[in-house]
Amino acid sequence: MIKKILIGLLIVLIAIQFIKPTRNLSGNTDKDISTIYPMSDSVKQIVTKACADCHSNKTVYPWYASVQPLSFWLDHHVDEGKREINFNEFASYRIGKQNHKLKEVIEQVKEDEMPLSSYTLIHKEAKLTAGEKATLIQWCQNIMDSIKANYPADSLNIKRPPPPTGK
Ligand code: HEC
Repeated sequence: MIKKILIGLLIVLIAIQFIKPTRNLSGNTDKDISTIYPMSDSVKQIVTKACADCHSNKTVYPWYASVQPLSFWLDHHVDEGKREINFNEFASYRIGKQNHKLKEVIEQVKEDEMPLSSYTLIHKEAKLTAGEKATLIQWCQNIMDSIKANYPADSLNIKRPPPPTGK
């Protein structure tokens, strides 16, 4: 009985190896955040090493990313991460969304929520030093300040205006 279950599991494990999800490799940077806001080399370096694998159009896949079911798990992170914020698509966001996402970056970095701990466990170099965190936060803050100076406050409202009441 146990032997049959194990063989069954092995077959499933082999079968799922043939499932190859589409990879995040386009590398398109036409709408990159750096096309609309200044980004120093040090900020670029921080984002590239600590965030880009899940928040850009190009993931650098380690060899084990081809092994299922690990691949499902990693791709899920990339999909979800890109949906939350994609630095390579940032210029396409409405101004209110840009402002809100930058605020989220500051919060996530301050609270050590990002980069994900499951990621820094393996990518030790992605763990941010206090100095790197400060650099990243200051960069976001500077952009938010310039947005605030250039747009009326109500355009930064991320909620859509309520539908007209018809009066
Ligand atoms: C291993 C993949 C991975 C890495 C690396 C990573 N993130 Fe994320 N990020 C995610 C995922 C998955 C989510 C969505 C789920 C969640 O919030 O945990 C997310 C969500 C976010 C959010 C939205 C959170 C919210 O308020 O709900 C922000 C902002 C963010 N990440 C910023 C960053 C920044 C900045 C870095 C680099 C310093 C980074 N992430 C590195 C995977 C990653």
